[in-house]
Amino acid sequence: MQNARGLVWYSERRSLKTKVTPVDRVDRKLTKVDRRRPDRDTMEKAASIIKEGGLVAFPTETVYGLGADGMNPAAVGKIFAAKGRPSDNPLILHLSSPDGALGLARLDGRALAAMRAFWPGPLTIVLPALSSVPREVTAGLSTVALRMPDHPVALALIEASGCPIAAPSANRSGRPSPTDAQAVVSDLGDAVDLVLDAGAVDIGLESTVIDASGEDVLLLRPGGTPLEALEEFFGAPIKTPGSGAPEARRSPGTRHRHYAPIVPVRIWTPCDALIAATDKSGFVGRLRGGGVPPGFARAICFDSAESYASGLFAAFRALERDCSEIVAEWPEADGVGLALRDRIRRAASPDA
Ligand code: TXA
Ligand code: MG
Repeated sequence: MQNARGLVWYSERRSLKTKVTPVDRVDRKLTKVDRRRPDRDTMEKAASIIKEGGLVAFPTETVYGLGADGMNPAAVGKIFAAKGRPSDNPLILHLSSPDGALGLARLDGRALAAMRAFWPGPLTIVLPALSSVPREVTAGLSTVALRMPDHPVALALIEASGCPIAAPSANRSGRPSPTDAQAVVSDLGDAVDLVLDAGAVDIGLESTVIDASGEDVLLLRPGGTPLEALEEFFGAPIKTPGSGAPEARRSPGTRHRHYAPIVPVRIWTPCDALIAATDKSGFVGRLRGGGVPPGFARAICFDSAESYASGLFAAFRALERDCSEIVAEWPEADGVGLALRDRIRRAASPDA
């Protein structure tokens, strides 16, 4: 594409199935920000958009988020409209310190201890909501999800805005979460007021979501905080909500289709001898001990589970541009592998 002016957003293919935002509009919305030392002026500008009820996409350590003032129902409503997100799927409130949770949720010693141990970091804690939290955030549930991200830009934005920031991942609903600013622009360019571009994120998969609103702690979504670390901290195995768990103690988001590229995803297990690929297939995974089997148009291989996790969604977005199907290696289940499995399984299930 001509006239790209340094932006990476182009493709070798002529007909793109994805919607691409025109470059000049993209240019004006993307604002570079130093990851480690976000400059005051930029953060003030972003915060004033939040305070006025606008939408700012910002980096976290997990994925980019689409932020609005979490106390402003109209602003929160814009998030749902921009993403095409079902209104029954509640949002996470992002805080700049555990103190920010006071006045939003009913806190007990266990929740406070978990916040102190895991924040800032990729752990979202679901707790009983106080009436101050708009129902647009909780989607009418009696609980609220809270998280303090481990990213200087995210923390500076929350601080400068002076409010909790409601933010889902900054992708169109159902698409892979964005791990860099270009992916945000490609999905949401028209709908977002500003995109803070601090480069690629670290973890690449979303936060782990636990429900600590009841007697036992439940795992609602595996993510950046390993289950093993949580079980060690809580001193007990953490269950996923079984079929008998009340609807209120599940993650509504897990009911909806998620993380899917625009082409089908097929799962490959390393003990399967052969991948029956066509010359239109792309491969993503670790593929221990060997090259890529013949037949693949493109392959994106990683040398660790962590790099597979941080590269999965970007690989989906890259491969969908010139492959007609994607074959994803099924990883081991330990550490970040549990979250990787979850995202790959959902990407590969058309109705999940
Ligand atoms: O890493 C992350 O968590 C990213 C970054 C931006 O912070 N955010 C993110 O948000 O992944 P989202 O909206 O894409 O996913 C939040 C998940 C959804 O599955 C939602 O249903 C669940 O958290 N959730 C939010 N509030 C909840 C609540 N009160 N009870 C149960 N689940 C809740
Ligand atoms: Mg999401």
